[in-house]
Amino acid sequence: MNYRAFIQEQIASIRETVGRGIAINAINGGENSSVVTVLGHRILGKGLKTVFVDSALMRKGEPERVVKIFAKMRIPVELVDARAEFLGALKGLTDPEEKRNAVTNTFYAKVFGRLVRETGAKFLLHGTILTDIEETVAGIKRQHNILAQIGIDPEKEYGYKVLEPLQTLRKDGVRKVAEILGLPSEITKRIPFPGPALATRIVGEVTEQRLEIVREATAIVEKELEKSRAFQYLAVLLNDKATGIRENRREFGQIIVVRCLNSVDARTATPTKLSWQKLNRICKRITSIKGVNRCLYDLTPKPPATIEYI
Ligand code: XMP
Repeated sequence: MNYRAFIQEQIASIRETVGRGIAINAINGGENSSVVTVLGHRILGKGLKTVFVDSALMRKGEPERVVKIFAKMRIPVELVDARAEFLGALKGLTDPEEKRNAVTNTFYAKVFGRLVRETGAKFLLHGTILTDIEETVAGIKRQHNILAQIGIDPEKEYGYKVLEPLQTLRKDGVRKVAEILGLPSEITKRIPFPGPALATRIVGEVTEQRLEIVREATAIVEKELEKSRAFQYLAVLLNDKATGIRENRREFGQIIVVRCLNSVDARTATPTKLSWQKLNRICKRITSIKGVNRCLYDLTPKPPATIEYI
């Protein structure tokens, strides 16, 4: 594939569709939404409003980090505090698809619906990639950013049109486009991060307290494995508990699963062979999180597993 030609085609298409209208997009610090942001700003300039929706589901320090990276590229990013809305929508839900649905509805109907009304935007630029579409259509998993492909008409339901310039690419293609667009390595060298964020890494109910645990575990895993060159690494909080001992007392504690995978395009993945020393270090740090007394390393490839847990 000729990625330079691909970029030119997307530029022409977005320019023609949006014209002098206003478009809006959200970044989550991941590569897909970052590529769309840079592409969109090159084409639309001030006609594109970029927001970072703080859903309470983000990684540690992420909102500030993303705003800073984009400020260096002279792309203003507005922080939108929607924490209460997301936590409210997720309250009491344990079924994976119901949780994904709650994130989707809060994001697209509530938060974006409001932003679109406030800004007069008619278009949403979206970082959907081919793998998201394929897995959703195949019924494997409803990726939260898939709308039209499963029969949701965003214009009718939410009041804006969705443009998806990356929808024919997989992860490896997005990387190529990111390189050509000159995105900084803080973004291109970053591992993938899912749209529904830490909600995909909590089995069972998503609460503020459980988010705090998985956020801390994620920070540890990302720091420890940043030089691993693996495709993706993450921490998951299980819905089970296990007996352990802390300060000579019995503790019925939380269980964290660590995953570290090699993959090219996220369609298949294999676990990486981490050194025993590294695994022990991760285990020690994770079990020092308050209330966590077990740390497991997941050896399951995709398939039969998926990368995330919900
Ligand atoms: P799974 O868990 O389906 O993940 O094997 C494949 C890749 O996609 C990411 N992922 C998502 N990305 N919206 C996204 O934008 C989603 O709903 C979503 N679910 C999973 C996951 O992190 C992995 O890289």
